[in-house]
Amino acid sequence: MYLGIISAMPDEIHSVLDSMTDVTTTTHGNRTFHKGNLYNKPVVLVFSNWGKVAAAITTTQLIESFKVNKIVFTGVAGALQEHLNIGDVVVGTHLYQHDMDARPLFKQFEIPIIKKTAFKTNATVTQQLRMASEKYLESFSNNLDTTFTKEFGITNPKTYYGGIASGDQFISSVQKIEELNISLPDALCVEMEGAAVAQVCYDYKIDFGIIRTISDKAKENASIDFQKFAKIIASKYALGILKIFLS
Ligand code: ADE
Repeated sequence: MYLGIISAMPDEIHSVLDSMTDVTTTTHGNRTFHKGNLYNKPVVLVFSNWGKVAAAITTTQLIESFKVNKIVFTGVAGALQEHLNIGDVVVGTHLYQHDMDARPLFKQFEIPIIKKTAFKTNATVTQQLRMASEKYLESFSNNLDTTFTKEFGITNPKTYYGGIASGDQFISSVQKIEELNISLPDALCVEMEGAAVAQVCYDYKIDFGIIRTISDKAKENASIDFQKFAKIIASKYALGILKIFLS
């Protein structure tokens, strides 16, 4: 059985793909799937595209066409809480769709029909990702290459474990962070795909885990931080954590 790896960042896709062997690449439905081995484990790697609809389409294709039995998602996210810093990793335990609001028919954040406000990640996959992230960040800190980390202020990155909020919005305002802190107080970070992937995995009963590296603080300068960070740091993290996760 294949592990599906979905990444939200083209830079991450390139670095993981460079480490894969026996790769067969196919394209359909506007998505490019790379099937092969990563650290001797069979995987299918694909770029999610951005936003909840795009990520749900990618996930459905991955499950239907490649029969993966497990999916791991990697990408970057904006911090929703002050104690999180750029370079920290959030391992998701549950995911919300922060822009789902069908009130007064359903309560805020509840997904109609399936009656869920949060999707839990698979406990075993999540524990393995947590251990992989902790181990990776420990060696990353011990071998800190300041030519890469200095401009982001990364000194001692940590792994956090908790809620993730997904929505079709790039968040770059303190006011929006404050609103989310009130409505979803246990969400650690914000991004644009995770809960959609989680919903598809819930429907298909596929084990799902997610890691998100904090690229910005979702404040006014978020878009500048985010693009630089993705290029320089996120790709290293994704590959490093996946290597430990697969071994
Ligand atoms: N992904 C990375 N940073 C983000 C932000 N600030 N808002 C939404 N998605 C993100």
